Amino acid sequence: MTYLIDKWNALHSQSNTGDDRVTAVLNEHAFLLPQTGSALDLACGLGGNAVFLARHGLAVTALDISSVAINKLTRYAAEHKLTINADQQHITPESLKANRFDVIVVSRFLDRTLMNAIIDALKPNGLLFYQTFTREKATDTPPHNPDYLLASNELLALFAPLTAVFYQENALIGQQQRGLRNEAQYIGQKTG
Ligand SMILES: C[S@@+](CC[C@H](N)C(=O)[O-])C[C@H]1O[C@@H](n2cnc3c(N)ncnc32)[C@H](O)[C@@H]1O
Repeated sequence: MTYLIDKWNALHSQSNTGDDRVTAVLNEHAFLLPQTGSALDLACGLGGNAVFLARHGLAVTALDISSVAINKLTRYAAEHKLTINADQQHITPESLKANRFDVIVVSRFLDRTLMNAIIDALKPNGLLFYQTFTREKATDTPPHNPDYLLASNELLALFAPLTAVFYQENALIGQQQRGLRNEAQYIGQKTG
């Protein structure tokens, strides 16, 4: 675990909160967000999604294993008067309380042991925005470990208990220099 923290701390030392961008699936579907409520940026890194959600008016919890990233995000939130509670932790299913968030965002992070806890952590009608890397790639770019890469349509299967609102995965179809390549995007709602 120390290795993991050191690895991500080293990476997050190289840039700053405010430099990183919001994930496309959230940016392009911001019109779906509630005007008020609570949101979680899971494995937030420097917190591009957390900052976006807080600017939208949501009270944000941001969790990540990297103390460097969490410290930078905490400083940025204080300087910009954003409601972001950033906490350094190794996320496990027990980290997530049931019925807690109106919105959960996960980008470029995949831990399949968390999926049921993510679903449970959504409030009724809560929305999950998820975007991460796929095994099928148009370019030979990292990550390469299949454990951290989605199989075809996997987000739809992992979040089958939710109602899918949006899904995109262009795989290797057609003109590979266009469209969404190397990643899949999913939005689901906890209905019923
Ligand atoms: C590729 S980065 C993505 C960061 C951010 N979500 C984004 O899209 O920019 C993956 C993040 O997951 C965090 N991470 C990896 N394993 C974790 C774990 N077990 N618990 C909490 N955070 C973890 C890393 O520290 C890193 O910030």
